[in-house]
Amino acid sequence: MRPIEAVERLGRWSSGRGPLYVLLATRLRRLIDDGELPPGALLPADRALAGALAVGRTTVVAAYDLLRAEGRITRHQGSGTRVAGTPTSAATEDAPVDPIFLDSLESRDDGVLLAICAAPGDPPPQVAEAYARIVPELSRISGDIGYYPYGHPVLREAIAARYTGLGVPTAPEHVLVTNGGQQALSLLAHALVSPGDRVLVEAPTYPGALEAFREEGAVLRGLPVGLEGFEAAARDLRPAVAYVIPTYQNPTGSVLPRLARERLARAAAAVDVPLIEDEVPADLGFPGEPRPAPLAAYSDAVITVGSLSKSIWGGLRIGWVRAPAPLVNRLARLRAVHDLGGNVPAQLAAAHLVSQLDDLGLAEELKARHDHLRALLTQHLPTWEVPQITGGQCLWVRLPHGDGNSFAQTALRHGLAILPGSGLDVTGAGDPYVRLHFRARPTELTEATTRLTTAWRTYHPPTNRVPSRPALAI
Ligand SMILES: Cc1ncc(COP(=O)(O)O)c(C=O)c1O
Repeated sequence: MRPIEAVERLGRWSSGRGPLYVLLATRLRRLIDDGELPPGALLPADRALAGALAVGRTTVVAAYDLLRAEGRITRHQGSGTRVAGTPTSAATEDAPVDPIFLDSLESRDDGVLLAICAAPGDPPPQVAEAYARIVPELSRISGDIGYYPYGHPVLREAIAARYTGLGVPTAPEHVLVTNGGQQALSLLAHALVSPGDRVLVEAPTYPGALEAFREEGAVLRGLPVGLEGFEAAARDLRPAVAYVIPTYQNPTGSVLPRLARERLARAAAAVDVPLIEDEVPADLGFPGEPRPAPLAAYSDAVITVGSLSKSIWGGLRIGWVRAPAPLVNRLARLRAVHDLGGNVPAQLAAAHLVSQLDDLGLAEELKARHDHLRALLTQHLPTWEVPQITGGQCLWVRLPHGDGNSFAQTALRHGLAILPGSGLDVTGAGDPYVRLHFRARPTELTEATTRLTTAWRTYHPPTNRVPSRPALAI
C-alpha cells in the first residue's frame, strides 16, 4: 500500500486525545480488525508513512511496535511491515476511496471543525414548508405502489420546466431523477465508460466524479479548468466522455464565459464526444450574479447533471440527469437494478422546492460567509493565495510552501478537517493547494481560521515530498 492510500484510509486518525503513536496504532488496529487491511497487506515503510502523516518517524515506529507486540502486524528486514496472518484468496485490497467519501463515514462528534464535504449545515425553512405542503398530497395517493425508476412524474415535470425556463427546452422524458448528483454521475460513468476508456476532466475538479470514472476503470486526462484545449485533446485521444463544471466550478469557483460555453458545447457535438456538464453548484451565485444558461442551451448532445444538495440541502438526496430520451431510458434501466427508484415524499417536496430555486434568498448568507472567511484568511494568513470568486462554496487556496497533504495532516491535529488539493487534480498540479469551504457558521469559520493559523505556525513541510496518488493520465 502506498503512503498516500494509507493516509486516506487513516482518515481523522489524529483527532482524539492521547499521544500520537497511540492514536495511530488505534486507527490501524481498527482497520486491521475490520478487515480493511487484510492479512498479508503490506503497510508503508516507517519513513514514508511518517512523511505522509507529517509526524516524526519515531511516532510511526512506536505505533508499529505496539501493533507488533499485540500480534497484529509482523516486521521483517527485507519483507517490510505486514498485517499478520495468511493472506486468503478472498482478501483483496479494495480500491482506495477518496477522502471526500471517507470523511462522510467518520463520526461527527469528535470536535473536528469543517467537514471535508462542503454542503449546507442545515435545511432551510423552505424544506419543512415543502414537506408540510405534501402531507395532504400523500394522504390522497391511492392505487400507486410508489416505484419510479425514472423519478416521480411530478418532479420530472418540475425539473423539465426549470430547464425550459433557463433557455433549454426540456420535456419530462429528458429527465431522470436520481438519489443526489453523485448517483447521477455514477450511473453516467457506468453507462458511458468501459475499462481503459479515456475521460477528459478539468484539473482540478470534483473528486467524487473522478472516483465514479475510476470505478469504471477510466484513464483520466486533465485539461485546464473549462476544458481548455478540448477540441485538440478530443481529436487526439478519442475520449469516451468529457466532464466539466461550468458554473462556480468545484473547487476553483470559476465560471465559464458565455462564448467559451458555446464553443465547448459545439465542439463536443462536432467530435461526437458525450459532454457531461455538472450543474450541482450552478445556483450558488452571490447576490446580483446572473444564473448562466447551461451548456445544454448550445447543443442537444450535452448531458446535464444537477442536484438540490448544495442549493437547498444534501439530506434531500435529490439529483437528476437531463439527457436525450434514449440515454435517460438506458440510465433508468441501470438505476432500477441499483435501487428501483427514489423516495417519493422527498421527490414530491422537491417538486415544490425546484420551482423556488431562484427565490430562496440564500445567496446573501452564502456571500456573507465567504466574505467572513476570506477577510480572516487575508488578515491572518497573508501569504496564502486566495483568489476572488463570485459564487460557489469553496476557496481553492494555494499554500506558499509545503504541500496540501502534509498540511492537512497538521491541521487535523489542530481539530480541523480540510481537503488537500492533490486528490482533485489528476495532473499532480494540485499538490500545493487545499480546499476550504465556507458553508459553516461564521463563529465556526472564525474558530477554524484560528486553528488554521496555529497549524500553519507549527507546520514543517516534510523534507522528502510525499508522492500524491498517481494521476491516471496518459
Ligand atoms: C460538483 C459536484 N457534483 C456532484 C456532487 C454530488 O452531489 P450530491 O450531494 O447531490 O450527491 C457534488 C457534491 O459535493 C459536487 O460538488
